[in-house]
Amino acid sequence: MYKIPANTLFLGKNLVFMPECHSTNTFALELCQQSSSSAEGTVVITANQSAGRGQRGNVWIVEPGKNLTFSVILRPSFLPVKDQFYLNIFSALAICDYLKEAGCEDVRIKWPNDIYVRDKKICGILIESQLQGSKITSSVLGIGLNINQRNFTMGTATSLTLETGRDCDLQQALEQLLGFLEARYLQLRQKLQSLKIDYLDNLYWINEEHTFQSLELGVFNGTICGLDPAGQLLIRIDGKEKAFGIKDVAYVHAMQ
Ligand code: BTN
Repeated sequence: MYKIPANTLFLGKNLVFMPECHSTNTFALELCQQSSSSAEGTVVITANQSAGRGQRGNVWIVEPGKNLTFSVILRPSFLPVKDQFYLNIFSALAICDYLKEAGCEDVRIKWPNDIYVRDKKICGILIESQLQGSKITSSVLGIGLNINQRNFTMGTATSLTLETGRDCDLQQALEQLLGFLEARYLQLRQKLQSLKIDYLDNLYWINEEHTFQSLELGVFNGTICGLDPAGQLLIRIDGKEKAFGIKDVAYVHAMQ
C-alpha cells in the first residue's frame, strides 16, 4: 500500500496502487487511452508486477514487495517531438539525484537511460509516448528501481540495499524519488539545455576509450564524446565522430 506523497505539487497526487498488476506501463497506457483527461502526474504502482516490460522487447522481473515498480503519466505537450529524448534525460537524472542522496557512490547513466552504480544496473526506465503531429500528447514513464532485493539471477544487477547496507522504506523512497522527478521535470520545462550538460556529466564511459559492437562495424574501440540533437550516442572512432541509434550499438564489457 502506498500513500499520496506530501512533498510534491502534482506527481503522485493521483495514485493508483495495485497489489498485483501485469505491467504498470500497460495499465497506465490504457488509462491514457480511456480518458484524455487522466491527470498529468498520475502514478500507477504495484507490489508485484507479473509481466513487466523492458526496453527492446525484454522482460523486467524482480522479487515482489522489495522494489519500486511504477509508471507516471506525463503530458509534455510543451516538448516538440524532435526533443523527446529529453524525457530520457530528465528521468535518468532524477534517479541519479535520488540514488546519490540515498548514499550510493559512482552513480552513472548508461545511455540511453539505464542507471548504473559501480558498474552494475540498479534501475531501468521504459518511456512510451503518444504523438500527434509534432506534439507529444502523453508519455508513460515506467521505472523499475531495485531497492531491497538482495539476490539477483544476473550478476550485473544491484540494489540500494546492496550498495548502502541498509534496507529502505519503500513509501519514503517513492516520495523522495517523485520529489526529484518533479524538480527535474520543471527543469525540462524551463532550462532544457542545462539538462543535457548534467546528463553528459553523469554519462557512463564518457571520454574513456572502450569496446563496443555494432552490426555495421562489428567489435570496435571508441570513445563516447556526446549526444547528437536527436539523442543518438556519438562515439569517436579513429578520430571521427559517428552517431548510433538505440538499437545500433552495444557496450562490450571486459571479462572479469
Ligand atoms: C529496461 O531496463 O529494460 C527498462 C525496464 C523498465 C521496467 C519498468 S517496471 C515499471 C514499468 N512497467 C513495466 O512493465 N516496465 C516498467
